[in-house]
Amino acid sequence: MEPGLRSSIHLDGGAAPGQLRFLTCGSVDDGKSTLIGRLLFDTRGVLDDQLATLRRDSRRYGSTGGEVDLSLLVDGLEAEREQGITIDVAYRFFATSRRRFVVADTPGHEQYTRNMATGASNADLAVMLVDARKGVLTQTRRHAFIAALMGIRHIVLAVNKIDLTGFSEERFESIAAEFRASAAVLGFRTMQVIPLSARHGDNVVASSANTPWYAGPSLLSYLESVMVEPEALSRPFRMPVQWVNRSGLDFRGYSGTVASGHARPGQRIVVQPSGTEAEILRIVTMDGSLPSAGAGDAVTLVLDREIDASRGDVLAAADAPAAMADALSARLIWLHDTPLAAGREYLVKLGTRSVPGAVSRIRHRIDVSTREAVPTDTLRLNDLGHVELRLQAPVVFEPYAESRDLGGFILIDRLTNATVGVGMVDAALHRATDITWQALDVDRAARGRLDGQRPAVLWFTGLSGAGKSTVANLVERRLHALGRHTYVLDGDNLRHGLNRDLGFSEADRAENVRRASEVAALFADAGLIVIASLISPYRSERARARDRVPDGEFIEVFVDAPVDECRRRDPKGLYKKADAGLLRGFTGVDAPYEIPDAPELHLRTAEAPPEDLAEHVVAELRRRGVFA
Ligand code: ADX
Repeated sequence: MEPGLRSSIHLDGGAAPGQLRFLTCGSVDDGKSTLIGRLLFDTRGVLDDQLATLRRDSRRYGSTGGEVDLSLLVDGLEAEREQGITIDVAYRFFATSRRRFVVADTPGHEQYTRNMATGASNADLAVMLVDARKGVLTQTRRHAFIAALMGIRHIVLAVNKIDLTGFSEERFESIAAEFRASAAVLGFRTMQVIPLSARHGDNVVASSANTPWYAGPSLLSYLESVMVEPEALSRPFRMPVQWVNRSGLDFRGYSGTVASGHARPGQRIVVQPSGTEAEILRIVTMDGSLPSAGAGDAVTLVLDREIDASRGDVLAAADAPAAMADALSARLIWLHDTPLAAGREYLVKLGTRSVPGAVSRIRHRIDVSTREAVPTDTLRLNDLGHVELRLQAPVVFEPYAESRDLGGFILIDRLTNATVGVGMVDAALHRATDITWQALDVDRAARGRLDGQRPAVLWFTGLSGAGKSTVANLVERRLHALGRHTYVLDGDNLRHGLNRDLGFSEADRAENVRRASEVAALFADAGLIVIASLISPYRSERARARDRVPDGEFIEVFVDAPVDECRRRDPKGLYKKADAGLLRGFTGVDAPYEIPDAPELHLRTAEAPPEDLAEHVVAELRRRGVFA
């Protein structure tokens, strides 16, 4: 398989006329790959050289005893072939004289909800396979639910291997009835059930003489004719700006794909979130200017005046702008091995915009099989949950049910760049919105000047027992003796008051460190030299603490001692407790500590006396001009 066809999450797109994007899903042995293989084969989408490879491979891995095994056309990687399962999502293209098709093939293994969500996020229709002998399984119900959740409004149930039931009408009817009943609440606009045999071709491309009792269309003729009305066209105009096109001396245009509605010259638009209005002058494409463009079209819009818009902004109909909010309720599918920690900051990418934000609350998990809400404080790989998001800046959005482009988002880990979640916006949350930043005349610099110092945050991080508090205490004493205004924020002490409601789960530590960072930022704003001393075991929270103060004011101090040395010191007897199993989730024993990548200072407390290390810190403050 061409590597380019392996997908990552796609949240863009929209159906071009004459094109149908569909997704296939089913359990491992339902014959999905064989079905796609047959569609490709019978519509001559298979290239000759692929066929040659296929003949060779069928002899090696195939399950058809030397005949061409069509599933091998679709199953991608060598390793997967050898396991006989498909993982990841593979996109395939084929066409008939009536329509072009893009197929997303997703695997049936239970844990691969993520692939299913990926494939479904830009499909118009889902083809779900069941084995006629097994009928509707939990897995089938789960897939139908996820398809509906991801905004798919058209579904086909392919009752495969009907030949193995002796082409039983009765069997087919009972499966069809059960499926219709279970999917009825999911809001599909069309539901078609087709008896077929992917292996032998019955009702795949042509209607089969073996199912005289079935009067409906073959799968292919159904796919060629099903109307998947592009609803996006009838909604107000929106286009997320992908980039600002400045080619030539005085050409400036805004490029992107129209997410919904139409653009026409003369139309008034508003740039969101700034609110600037303008008029569309021209719609430019590779093939010249257009009289209008609709949802799904990639265009460049030239406006009648110079405005300030950039990537991430949304151009919208001036008389019907989109909503904006910095707090949202959403459904979220967790895609990463490391469970979701509420409070941790990620990049939230919605439309073409990315803003830092966190899941502020997990309302509950949804059991995908029973569709019941289950109380939880985390989401694990493939879990689906209802969550609340808080963003650092407002985003332009629409509910996912109305727009996949402006209602779908992904969560990106800020350090590894991995996509850790995919979500669907339900609504804005109303938190205090009409608040503005109150500018004050006496600022941080003015306050610091009065004290003869510049503000700074010394952020001590390290294992329990590494010596953070000892060194922090000595640094503060030295600074105090030098007439400096300081304040120590100690993790243990904060946990007696401000943070007394927090424990040591990943989410609680994230919140603990978040609050400490906010207080550190306020105290720095007050002109103080702040000495924060917390284990702060996670890089992302430390990165966030750094972001809270102006560049150059944050000094990360890694207080480093080998865990065995900390255990030997054990000032509070906690290692002993943890080793005895009396204390769970103790950092360095059974909870992680992520070492700083590039701390401004690295103090090895097993190698030098604390007084020397404290002196070193004070010297660093001087060197940075924090005080003379
Ligand atoms: S942090 O991880 O959230 O940054 P913080 O520095 O506030 O931790 O608190 C750590 C202190 O709490 C330790 O010095 C120790 O005294 C105490 N403590 C109690 N239980 C734990 C635990 N499970 N892990 C780490 N520290 C704990």
